[in-house]
Amino acid sequence: MRVDVVTLFPEMIASALDFSIMARARDTGAVQFGIHNPRDWTTDRHRIVDDTPYGGGAGMVLKPEPLVVCVEEVTTKTDAAVVFMTPQGAQLTQAHVRRFASLSQMVVLCGHYEGLDERVRQLLVTDEISIGDYVLTGGELPALVLIDAVVRLLRGVLGNETSALEDSFEAGLLEHPHYTRPPVFRGMAVPEELVEGDHAQVRRWRRKMSLARTLERRPDLLARVELDSYDRELLAEILAEE
Ligand code: ADE
Repeated sequence: MRVDVVTLFPEMIASALDFSIMARARDTGAVQFGIHNPRDWTTDRHRIVDDTPYGGGAGMVLKPEPLVVCVEEVTTKTDAAVVFMTPQGAQLTQAHVRRFASLSQMVVLCGHYEGLDERVRQLLVTDEISIGDYVLTGGELPALVLIDAVVRLLRGVLGNETSALEDSFEAGLLEHPHYTRPPVFRGMAVPEELVEGDHAQVRRWRRKMSLARTLERRPDLLARVELDSYDRELLAEILAEE
């Protein structure tokens, strides 16, 4: 997959993608990153990318010309999504992430200042995405959040092929807790089921903890997931223990 980022602060994106699993995904060819500065698409001597808003008021607005030409040139695949990061967008979910990961290209637009000229949205943007109900100074950190979530789903990116499927949200439930050695740490023991348990016991404990955690922390998720009779039996146990 190709991921192209359009940003006035390319170093912010480049440096963050140069580590850990994102760098490995790039090195193995699972993803190709392109980072583009709309300033390079300006035609004036001062390379100006913003202007004062029509109607007056504080702040600056990103000019349409360099941004539109830049996005048009970097969007090379017919199925590409052009995603604008904005607190006005739909709140990012794992369902969005899965859809973007299935495409051959995602072009991510990072806003700044007061925003971008509305006509850029109308012309090019296919999706507007927010990472939550809080306001950041720019779209770069939200873009990195989106890219990380998408790239880790690409084939071959995570060492263990099944681990992405078992994640919180992929299964509609939160993940069970994890433990490693030592068996007792500051007086806190690893649950017996994990230390001594056979495979079936471990699976049962993990499923039960996953259900219990979701019930406690995200009952909204639990209401949406399809539970079989085994899950309902585990849930009954959880409720009886409370
Ligand atoms: N730009 C500024 N704040 C944002 C947010 N919460 N989500 C996406 N883009 C943003």
